[in-house]
Amino acid sequence: MPTIVSIQSIRHGTGKSNLTANLAVSIARQGWRVGIIDTDPMAPSIHALFNLDERRVDAVLNYYLWGDVSLDQVEAELSSVLTVEQGEVVVMGGGIDLIPAQIKVKEVPDLLRHGYDTTIISQAFLELMRRLNLDFLLIDLHPGITQEAILSLALANTVLLVLSLDQHELQAMAVLVDLARQLGVPKIFLIANQVLSGLDVDQVQRRLQAMYGENVVGVLPITAELMALGSSGIFCQQYPHHSLTQRIQAIAQQLITAAEHSSTRPN
Ligand SMILES: Nc1ncnc2c1ncn2[C@@H]1O[C@H](COP(=O)(O)OP(=O)(O)OP(=O)(O)O)[C@@H](O)[C@H]1O
Ligand SMILES: [Mg+2]
Repeated sequence: MPTIVSIQSIRHGTGKSNLTANLAVSIARQGWRVGIIDTDPMAPSIHALFNLDERRVDAVLNYYLWGDVSLDQVEAELSSVLTVEQGEVVVMGGGIDLIPAQIKVKEVPDLLRHGYDTTIISQAFLELMRRLNLDFLLIDLHPGITQEAILSLALANTVLLVLSLDQHELQAMAVLVDLARQLGVPKIFLIANQVLSGLDVDQVQRRLQAMYGENVVGVLPITAELMALGSSGIFCQQYPHHSLTQRIQAIAQQLITAAEHSSTRPN
């Protein structure tokens, strides 16, 4: 503790944002304080899921993460805090760029190699988490193997790789898994989402586990009620007794257990 969880995928629309919001609520229910950072500047979706007004604090948070302003200057307007049973969810502005604007994208691999940039940004994250009293920080990323995804892997204690069972995606995911290993992410967890009904969930889990050699922490079926919700609310809150809610809660539990058994990642 504290734990940074990076949520990533190869393809668009695999369910990362819905999963991030539902995991945040499920973890908070157990008494933890969870922060969410939405890194999609074009279409931030976490606010919509929580029915929050979009607040233009993203630039301010960016300035803080890049070391240009102090946390005092941003803390008051930083976030929307929602109480979820015993815990809280802190939703931070829509669209955070993890990579400072002044750094040229092609320089990032070099910075990662020399550890310079990750040290600064990881200290900024840890300070942010300390000041906001967060136990978990969930980072919802854009799809693909982007520079930002690589940086996020370098910061995270845990990565959640969300995939469907598309053949091309399965191959590309192997590259992302490998990258996570190379960057030393302590926990690499896979989640199959939008799995067609009729498939044997246990068999899918075993197959993926054998394919990647990493822990498959959830196999989530395609669910009409979630589709119908259309990202306008938090599924676990609207359908507390649904089997999908139970599956998401089981993933949340694994994140909590992993966090309890690990120390802060040294960067
Ligand atoms: N298990 C599921 N069953 C049915 N629909 C799902 C499921 N998971 C996600 N969806 C739907 O898929 C769509 C995409 O979900 P979401 O926005 O969470 O994906 P994303 O990975 O964040 O997308 P992007 O890559 O664009 O950021 C949403 O309409 C959501 O309701
Ligand atoms: Mg998304």
